[in-house]
Amino acid sequence: MKEVGSQVTIAMDGPAGSGKSTVARRIAEKLGLLYLDSGAMYRAVTLLALQEGLAADSPKLIDRVKTCHIEFMDNGRTILLDTKDVSVQIRTPAVNRLVADVAKIPEIRREIVKHQQRIGAEGSIIAEGRDLTTIVFPNADFKFYLDASVTERAKRRLAELQAQNEKATLVAVEAEIRERDKKDTTREHSPLRAADDAATVDTTDKTIEEVVDLIIAHVYPNER
Ligand code: C5P
Repeated sequence: MKEVGSQVTIAMDGPAGSGKSTVARRIAEKLGLLYLDSGAMYRAVTLLALQEGLAADSPKLIDRVKTCHIEFMDNGRTILLDTKDVSVQIRTPAVNRLVADVAKIPEIRREIVKHQQRIGAEGSIIAEGRDLTTIVFPNADFKFYLDASVTERAKRRLAELQAQNEKATLVAVEAEIRERDKKDTTREHSPLRAADDAATVDTTDKTIEEVVDLIIAHVYPNER
C-alpha cells in the first residue's frame, strides 16, 4: 500500500497486445506519474538499424546505440530519435518484424536498460515492457503482469493498424504476434516472464478502464 503523493515505481510486463501501453498511459494520467514505454526505445533502435542498413547483430548498431539520443516528450506520446520525431515510424510492420531480433542483443539491452533506469530515478513512474519487473526495476513498489488470449491480442493490434490505415488481416497479425511472443519468451537475455512477485491480470474480457481501476485499487486501496 502507498500513501497518495509519496514516490512510487510501478512496473508492468506482458506480451504484445496485452493492454500494457494503454493501461499504463491512462494510469500515468490519472495518478500524475511519468510514463515509460520501454518498447518504444527498442523500436527506435530498430528503426535506426533499418534506416542505416545495419543488421540487428552488427557491432556498428551497438556503437550507434551508445551515441544515439532517444528522448520522450508529452509524457511518452512523442519519441525523438536524434531530435527527430519518429513516433509514427516506430510502429510500422517493418519495425514490428525486426524489433525482437534487435531486442535480443545483450549489448543493446544493456545501453537501453541504463537509460531506462536513469529515467526511473527522476521520480514517480509507471514503466511497461518485457523486463521491467525482472531486470530494469526489480525493486519496484508494485509489479503487474498483463496477459490476454492471443486471439484477443491480435484483434486489438488489428484495430490499431486499421486506425492507422495499414492493411492487415487477423490471421497475419496473429501469426506476427505468435512469432514475436516466441522470440521474446525464449531469448537468452531478459526473456519475457512473469516475475515471481508480480500480480497477473488477465485482460481478455476486461475493458481498459476495468484494468486501470483494478491496478489503482491495488496501489491505493484506501482511496476508493
Ligand atoms: O511493447 P512493444 O510491443 O512496443 O515492444 C516491441 C518489442 O520490443 C517487443 O516485442 C520486444 O522484442 C522488445 N522489448 C523488449 N524489452 C522491453 C520492451 C520491449 O525486449 N522491455
